Amino acid sequence: MSHDELITRIEELKKEKDAVICAHYYVDEEVQKISDYVGDSFYLAKVAANLKEQTIVFCGVSFMGESAKVLSPEKTILMPDPTADCPMAHMAMVSAIEKYRKHYDDLAVVCYVNSTAELKMHSDVCVTSSNALKIVRKLPNKNIFFIPDINLGSYVKKMVPEKNIILNEGFCPVHKEIEATDVETARVAHPNAKLLVHPECSPDVIELADYAGSTSEIIEYANQSECDEFIIGTEIGVFYELKKRCPNKEFFPIKNNQICKDMKKISLEKVYNALNTMSPTVELSDEEISRAKSPLMKMLELA
Ligand code: 13P
Ligand code: SF4
Repeated sequence: MSHDELITRIEELKKEKDAVICAHYYVDEEVQKISDYVGDSFYLAKVAANLKEQTIVFCGVSFMGESAKVLSPEKTILMPDPTADCPMAHMAMVSAIEKYRKHYDDLAVVCYVNSTAELKMHSDVCVTSSNALKIVRKLPNKNIFFIPDINLGSYVKKMVPEKNIILNEGFCPVHKEIEATDVETARVAHPNAKLLVHPECSPDVIELADYAGSTSEIIEYANQSECDEFIIGTEIGVFYELKKRCPNKEFFPIKNNQICKDMKKISLEKVYNALNTMSPTVELSDEEISRAKSPLMKMLELA
């Protein structure tokens, strides 16, 4: 099938199957183009909780499809590539949660949405990179175990010093690759550019940045700024939206390997196949849904 035929068939199937397509900014540009809703993790969670269509095609990684299923269990959630998974989502242990719960009476387990449904089941509240500061500040608890991302956790710890934030060793392999020396090189190459980074970057990279924020916040910052050159410290998928919204501005990656290979597994062919066969679907048990729902709903409430 040609590229144009694929797009036409996807549009027809969407109507036939009462489906919408949601996509994260990190998926390929050609997938973003055919999607009904494109955004960061928080935006997509909000959208997934309120759609009227019966089928959601989730163009992203597993934890995103799982969250959509938890928030809308009666819907069919299609993952075009079920092997697209976020390594960081698995980088925390239930045994560590249990250990800290025994140690601190008032412990709140704050779980970055980039986590498995199992980790969410054992957590008190979810956060994304765009609402973590707001939610942690609102919690009455002094002691917080932040899972799984050590970098977002460290950023929250620095910005909310009144809390005792216990960190966990998880990380995003894509953002971890960006080092302070890469920033220095990029600054020399683009001396007039502002440096915008994601809080999944390491603390020394965030320290060097002009701004740290979620993918949506980075896009918004660039859009509002009077500056017309930016060095971007996050996955290259955001460049599509950045260039679309700011056609007269220039964007440079810090280095050339800011690519999430799992997000890039989603292709137009796989979206078409998912809609055509109505598979693969996200399946979770009733217990997983009811227990993982509570921290996700609390996030939607507090944010
Ligand atoms: P945001 O969507 O919150 O910016 O997070 C980025 C990310 O790594 C998603 O996998
Ligand atoms: Fe996971 Fe990092 Fe890929 Fe996001 S960019 S899905 S955190 S590996």
